[in-house]
Amino acid sequence: MPDIRKTLKLIGSLTMRILLLGSGGREHALAWKMAQSPLCEKLFIAPGNAGTSQCGTNLPISLSDFEEIKKACIRNKIDLVVVGPEEPLVKGITDFLITDPALQKLDVIGPRKTGAQLEGSKAFAKAFMMRHHIPTAIYREFTLQNYEEGVEYLQKHPLPVVLKADGLAAGKGVVICENHLEAIAEFELMIQRAKFGEAGKKVVVEQFLKGIEISVFVLTDGKNYVILPEAKDYKRVGEGDKGPNTGGMGAVSPVPFAKDALMKKIEAKIIHPTVEGLKTEGLEYLGFIFFGLMIVENEPYMIEYNCRMGDPETEVVIPRLKNDLVQLLAAAAGQQLDGVKIDTDPRTACTIVAVSGGYPGDYKKGMAINGLSDVNPADSLVFYMGTAEKNGQVITNGGRVFCITSYGRSVFDAVEISKEEMEKVFFIGMEYRRDIGYEFE
Ligand code: AMP
Ligand code: GLY
Repeated sequence: MPDIRKTLKLIGSLTMRILLLGSGGREHALAWKMAQSPLCEKLFIAPGNAGTSQCGTNLPISLSDFEEIKKACIRNKIDLVVVGPEEPLVKGITDFLITDPALQKLDVIGPRKTGAQLEGSKAFAKAFMMRHHIPTAIYREFTLQNYEEGVEYLQKHPLPVVLKADGLAAGKGVVICENHLEAIAEFELMIQRAKFGEAGKKVVVEQFLKGIEISVFVLTDGKNYVILPEAKDYKRVGEGDKGPNTGGMGAVSPVPFAKDALMKKIEAKIIHPTVEGLKTEGLEYLGFIFFGLMIVENEPYMIEYNCRMGDPETEVVIPRLKNDLVQLLAAAAGQQLDGVKIDTDPRTACTIVAVSGGYPGDYKKGMAINGLSDVNPADSLVFYMGTAEKNGQVITNGGRVFCITSYGRSVFDAVEISKEEMEKVFFIGMEYRRDIGYEFE
């Protein structure tokens, strides 16, 4: 018997007070979309950024302060919490909030700690894939206990070989090694010297898959799921995919090679068994699943799960979503995603991220950003990332500073528009890639 309150939310006769957690471009895009919903009575963002404050009320709360988040939920009579980033999920924010007697009516979009292990532990994710026959790279798992065996395994492993620290490592825990010496040195650093901390002392050694990457996003209520528009992101800092990995320098959606037949295969071989697996293992997963896939000879392989949306992928996925996002999230919370149809804008959306010089290494903060209001709203959207406000001036406050998403008839067209609009904005040290979507021209 569905909860009457949830049904009321679903049919739109009950507006909601929402708290969104996070402070990146992903959160600005989610806040921008939720604020457009007639079901959104009041939107709070904690801690938010200079862009989210245009969509709702920012609350200066640290995401590691679960007590303060709980108090903010009570004080602001929050009905729905939407968790943007992975860290609070892996640390158990959802369990912390929903098991509190004072928050019995609260729904949280974001899995409990057990479900978040899909991202929080590479070893857990690989074992889950094995249990549910989800295609993925061949792997072995090593710790200090079987270290010597690991060295031997590495010595015989075909090259390149992929080493993955088990726990969260701020996107840096994956190392692709081109020779055996380098692989063994890296293995030693991870296990013996805790290069990626305690959680990285367990290492997944994995076969290298050569193919094309694509990201697919699903919203699930634990029983049913909807597939959101797919995306491709550009992780390397430099043009031509050169230089170190970043959180993402740009993204495109749709992905031109993701034709119906491939998407059907991805759903049958990867998405469906994943949601079924979560269900049969009793993981009660309510939230987004981000499938990081490698397409090898037209066959999809799982590279990684994330228990949240991607950033900057959200900045192209959400602008293409025509559904009311709050209604969609309410349907998920009410376990009523069956029968929900996703309606997608047929235009292409591309985003380009402006970063502060030096990123992903050291960079400066506090630079004034000028020209943001000159960006033409006809075809483009500005999403703020690492930004803050000081005396009414928007300043840089992170490595990835903002992104410009544009709509176009093709990837080329949308990227050209974003590049033109980028010219209007300036801060000292501003850099961006001009070749987002280059392979689709
Ligand atoms: P992850 O943090 O697991 O997404 O890994 C970061 C990046 O490393 C991925 O986006 C891929 O580009 C690459 N990668 C991870 N695993 C593999 C693999 N088995 N084969 C090839 N590339 C990989
Ligand atoms: N852009 C990759 C991520 O959000 O993990």
